[in-house]
Amino acid sequence: MELRIAVLGVGLMGADHVERITRRISGARVSVVNDYVAEKAEAVAATVPGARVVGDPLDAIAADDVDAVVLATPGPTHEKQLLACLEYGKPVLCEKPLTTDVSTALEVVKREAELGRRLIQVGFMRRFDQEYEALKALIDSGELGRPLLVHCAHRNPAVHSHFDSAMIVKDSLVHEVDVARFLLAEEIVAITVHRPATTSYAPAGLQDPQFALLETASGRLVDAEVFVTTGIAYEVRTEVVAERGSAMIGLGVGLVRKSAPGIWGGQVTPDFRARFGQAYDTEIQRWVDAVQAGTNVDGPDAWDGYAAAAVCAAGVVSLESGQRVEVEMVTRESAGL
Ligand SMILES: NC(=O)c1ccc[n+]([C@@H]2O[C@H](COP(=O)([O-])OP(=O)(O)OC[C@H]3O[C@@H](n4cnc5c(N)ncnc54)[C@H](O)[C@@H]3O)[C@@H](O)[C@H]2O)c1
Repeated sequence: MELRIAVLGVGLMGADHVERITRRISGARVSVVNDYVAEKAEAVAATVPGARVVGDPLDAIAADDVDAVVLATPGPTHEKQLLACLEYGKPVLCEKPLTTDVSTALEVVKREAELGRRLIQVGFMRRFDQEYEALKALIDSGELGRPLLVHCAHRNPAVHSHFDSAMIVKDSLVHEVDVARFLLAEEIVAITVHRPATTSYAPAGLQDPQFALLETASGRLVDAEVFVTTGIAYEVRTEVVAERGSAMIGLGVGLVRKSAPGIWGGQVTPDFRARFGQAYDTEIQRWVDAVQAGTNVDGPDAWDGYAAAAVCAAGVVSLESGQRVEVEMVTRESAGL
């Protein structure tokens, strides 16, 4: 039986997920498409045999021909839609962020814990990227000894025009936060977001780039440059420095060309869909397989979404004050886990 999926929000990310579910992964099909802009939903549904448009997102979640949900709506709408998925017992893959503030993220974690059934996976897709998987496996093998430092760079050519400085923390840096927690397997306890000189190419008022310093519970440091209006390409690099060596990913060394007149080089991925296409495919395929198997989650869960939200909330405070801010998080036990 194919898993019947409702995709809510078919903008950049949601339309890409519809395409991937329809053409590239197995065991699932898109049965329902929903978007705030009806014409967008109609246009995307027309590309999928058998898919229908449902105008209200909560009706889409509740629909009888929907077994599971992909949420690719903007972050502020996630809370209500996630709670509806929990109410109807529908497994959901929610694009990051889980929700846009800590209290609603914790509410979602608690509501899922009360159900006693895991239904929520969060779209931190880097965990499914082959390079990140290789880096994680190398760390876990112990060959490099204990990791001490992580250096991250996250560069985007451009972002949506509504992006503000806090969104760089909550929407972009959030990936580095999850990468740090994933690679080092511990929580982040403090964050400082520095405001370096801004690029003259950024819209007025946008603090871009930003430079964050994360501190882990055991005292390891993670630095992250996030620069979202480079105008160049999409680049994500991560280097782990450990006691007996270091390892780096994201060099983008695919094909290297040498040609006249004196040209040496290759291509840099233009956007996140090109850089992380394999990761999104693997993420959705493994999620579909987990839902079919009844385990519903195979990857970052609601707790990971909550932890990232807590770090980013502290990051936004630090961005404003320029001070080091401690991350406030409840324990897993007090969240009912
Ligand atoms: N994992 C990643 O690498 C990654 C990359 C990009 C975006 N995202 C996340 O995906 C989500 C969507 O981002 P995007 O860049 O595709 O945004 P987008 O603006 O391109 O698309 C969002 C779509 O949702 C629709 N929408 C808005 N409110 C809605 C509602 N209440 N119900 C139904 N539809 C609604 C909009 O009309 C739009 O078509 C965000 O949470 C974002 O953070 C994740």
